[in-house]
Formats: sequence, structure tokens, C-alpha cells
Amino acid sequence: MKFVLPGGTGQVGTVLDRALTAAGHEVTVLTRRPTRPHHFAWDGVTLGRWAEAIDGSDVVINLAGRSVSCRYTAENLRAMMDSRVDSARVVGEAVAAAARPPRVWLQMSTATIYAHRFDAAHDETTGVIGGSEAGVPDYWAHSVEIAKNWESAQTEARTPATRKIALRAAMVMSPDRGGVFDVLSRLVRLGLGGPVAGGAQYVSWIHADDFVRAVDFLIARDDLSGPVNLASPGPLPHRDFMRALRTAWGVPAGLPATRWMAELGAFALRSDTELLLKSRRVTPGRLRSAGFTFEHPEWETAAQDLVRRCRPTHATGDRRRTPTSRAA
Ligand SMILES: NC(=O)c1ccc[n+]([C@@H]2O[C@H](COP(=O)([O-])OP(=O)(O)OC[C@H]3O[C@@H](n4cnc5c(N)ncnc54)[C@H](OP(=O)(O)O)[C@@H]3O)[C@@H](O)[C@H]2O)c1
Repeated sequence: MKFVLPGGTGQVGTVLDRALTAAGHEVTVLTRRPTRPHHFAWDGVTLGRWAEAIDGSDVVINLAGRSVSCRYTAENLRAMMDSRVDSARVVGEAVAAAARPPRVWLQMSTATIYAHRFDAAHDETTGVIGGSEAGVPDYWAHSVEIAKNWESAQTEARTPATRKIALRAAMVMSPDRGGVFDVLSRLVRLGLGGPVAGGAQYVSWIHADDFVRAVDFLIARDDLSGPVNLASPGPLPHRDFMRALRTAWGVPAGLPATRWMAELGAFALRSDTELLLKSRRVTPGRLRSAGFTFEHPEWETAAQDLVRRCRPTHATGDRRRTPTSRAA
């Protein structure tokens, strides 16, 4: 099949590009800075020649968006919103204008759309959309607003011949350098991988292999559209999540951090504590009821698998070629 990946140069795009190419598909990546033969230039805002790549393609998976790992200044929040809404809108315009529109448009969204919650998990039917929870910083509502507008940009696109799915993804765990698993693993190896602010907040995650398999599954299932949670069935409290990661790396202890230490650390790392402190307890309701099964449902064994894949290449410092899916 012909795939187009707008914003496909980042962490998730790299995982998908590698797996889809290895499976024999033709992949075109839309990027603001093309560097490889299958890259095509776009700006993520306006229609241009890049839309020719979408015309005649089978599947579009839009991943574009300014990284959320940054300080939540007014300027960064605006860029986080605009880059997502503008790119989803213009992808919709390209799909709508295509003489041969793609069969499926998967639009990245996020598990962050759900409320900060400990007592029960959010699935697509009973889950509570966030933004009005008590007892959390007001600015956390911005991330929910971004996710809602991101999804609306896809919903509002007039693309009757194209099935649309919003991927409400949890953290995608791959062994690649620079990804979230790499960042957390470095903290663990430095002895800093203890619980943050007590560690009761839930962490939702999905192994990169299962992410790729779920994407395959959703493409094949013509009966599925709308929002779908891409999260393992085993979200767990942050303290247990970090303990399992320490065990996988063979690191006996991790320094716990209080909320203010986390604030300080996030400031130093030019990031925001919402990424650490919001309780994301999300489960894959629709995937499971459609019959999808996870190869890595539990974090303990998923973390061991990811550590095993990191290890052989650690000595050379090159993890770019570490496969993250069976297809790869
Ligand atoms: N990684 C996860 O675990 C995870 C989980 C849930 C949701 N998500 C969401 O899924 C998407 C992909 O995740 P990722 O981790 O691969 O993100 P990433 O590594 O930050 O990559 C996103 C890509 O978006 C493009 N981009 C950045 N700013 C842009 C802008 N202003 N206009 C147009 N394009 C822009 C960049 O491509 P170029 O610079 O090449 O143009 C970049 O490679 C993101 O929107 C992210 O929020 C990720």
C-alpha cells in the first residue's frame, strides 16, 4: 500500500516508517526539512504540491505537531495548538481535494484528552474528557483543549470517501535514542528513577510493536472509525512503573522526588511537570472489543523486552537500527 506520514520524522514516525517500509509498503514522509529520498516538503499549514502525494495514496497517518516536551509558555502552548490544528486541517483539505482519496486517515491524538483520574480507567465509551477537574493546575486544561481541537479538525473535514480514526495514544515505548523510553531509562541508570510526588498518578503506555500492530489492525477494519485508545490494558501507578523499569535495568534504587523537585527538574530540562504528574489511566476499550490482542500487555515484561533491545547496541552508542516491530 501507499502510505503518507505527515510529521513522520519524529519518534512515532520513525517507528512507523521503519515497520511499514520493512513490510513492503511505499512510504512518503511530509516534513518541513526533507533530508531523505522519500521525504516531501510541506509547511503543515497551506496546501501545496505535497498534496499530490496524498492523491492516490491508500493511508494517511498524520503525526505532525510541535513537541509537548517544553515549558508551557504562552508562545509554546500556541505553537502546540496551531501546529496540530493547522496540520490536521490542511491534511483534511488535501484529502478532500484528491481525485483518488485515501481509504483511511489516521490522525494522531492523545490519551491526555481524558481527565486526571485515579479511581477508574477511561475507555472511549465511559471515559471522562478532561479540562474541568478539581485540584489540578488550571493550565492543564490547555492540553485537553489542544487535543479536542486537534480531533475536531479531523472530524470537521469533509472527506466522505475516507474513513477517519483519531488515535488517542498513550506514551509509545520504543528503544530508539531520544524517545520517551530512552529518556526514562537514562534517569533510571543515573539513580534518579524513583517515584515523583508519591507516584500514585497512573502511567498509560503502549509498546511500539503493539502500536504498529494496532495501526495495521485499524487500517484493516473497515467497520471502525472515530476515537480509539491506543494504550496497553495495563496502566499502572507511576511508582510501580518506575520500579519495574529499575528492575529491568538491574538498578536497585531510584531517588524519589517531591513535587517541587520535579518542578525544578522540569524547569532545568525545559519541560513541564504535567507530563509527569497528570494521572493518565486509559484502557483500550474499542481495540479489545474489536478483538485486538496485545503482545505486550504488562509493563514488567514490556520493559524487559525494551531493555533487551537497547542493550546490544549500547556499547556502540547506535540504537537507530534497533528493530521496534516484528515487521522490522
Ligand atoms: N511519542 C508519544 O509517545 C506520543 C503519544 C501520544 C501522542 N503523541 C503525538 O503524536 C505525534 C507524533 O509524536 P512524536 O513523538 O513522533 O512527535 P515528535 O517526535 O515531536 O515529531 C513530530 C513531528 O511533527 C513535526 N512538527 C513539529 N513542529 C511542527 C510544526 N510547527 N508544524 C508542522 N510540523 C511540525 C516535526 O517534523 P518536521 O520537523 O520534520 O517537519 C516532527 O518530527 C505528536 O503530535 C505527539 O504529540 C505522541
